[in-house]
Amino acid sequence: MKGIVLAGGSGTRMYPISKVYSKQLTLIYDKPLIYYPISVLMLGGIREILIISNPETIPLYQKLFEDGSHLGLKISYEIQVAPNGIAESFIIGEKFIAQDSVTLILGDNIFYGKLDFFYKALNHNKKGATIFAYQVNDPHRYGIVEFDQNGKAISIEEKPKNPKSNYAVPGLYVYDNKVVNIAKNLKPSSRGELEITDVNKAYLDLGELHVEKIGRGVAWLDTGTPEALLKASQFFGVIEDRQGLKVACLEEIAYQKGFISKSEFKKVVENIPKSLYRDYLEKILDE
Ligand code: TTP
Repeated sequence: MKGIVLAGGSGTRMYPISKVYSKQLTLIYDKPLIYYPISVLMLGGIREILIISNPETIPLYQKLFEDGSHLGLKISYEIQVAPNGIAESFIIGEKFIAQDSVTLILGDNIFYGKLDFFYKALNHNKKGATIFAYQVNDPHRYGIVEFDQNGKAISIEEKPKNPKSNYAVPGLYVYDNKVVNIAKNLKPSSRGELEITDVNKAYLDLGELHVEKIGRGVAWLDTGTPEALLKASQFFGVIEDRQGLKVACLEEIAYQKGFISKSEFKKVVENIPKSLYRDYLEKILDE
């Protein structure tokens, strides 16, 4: 299973920061937003990761993560010249995906809580696609899934005016290798984008779309607006302060998951400049 983080976009709602770089580098409490989606892939055991972003931001991600080897990962980078849609990830990432399955996570999506819904999707090896459904208050902003009486997904609509349910599709998708060809055959939508909803509809038509509901015990936050960023920062500030544990601390996850040994972890910590982040990792090292 390969992993893609799509971290470009136009970020119009985040102007003026979007004038100089992508919003996924803005701070959520104590670390850049992109750490959170990367942590989800890592927790799922995915170690080959492609980061896709705009030409301005790719060099910054490269500076931040290099080749990922210090985290026991293999991180590569590709440019998305313009925000032509989420489904373009699979065209840009074709070489990277090769013959494998792929999980796509959007760079501004945060999942917090028990991630069993995701681990299950990664492990069941079903043919086709697994996407998720999460109850939201404002369904007109998202791709919305309609279920029949047996809980089977029967339609998906992108940003519907009259939503058929409150179940939104979060920016986390698990696909088999067919996704590359499906993406290549898509036509841009009326807003000029290759739509991820059209990929999911293609799987639905094939009878190979699995939609798993995520329970209310999981927090799914998307962080497209300044208000959402502030709320997410407060959310993680409260949790981290209460527990004394960091959420989405990639070095800690790499160590806990056994992607790097204790001595490698020690080296990573020693290379971090004096900071609260380093103090935290030193505490983990000493435990
Ligand atoms: P969107 O929610 O479509 O938003 P955006 O970041 O482009 O910003 P805005 O709506 O304010 O203009 O994107 C969801 C995520 O996917 C976000 O992390 C950006 C990323 N993305 C790309 O990297 N390339 C794309 O072509 C699109 C559409 C999104």
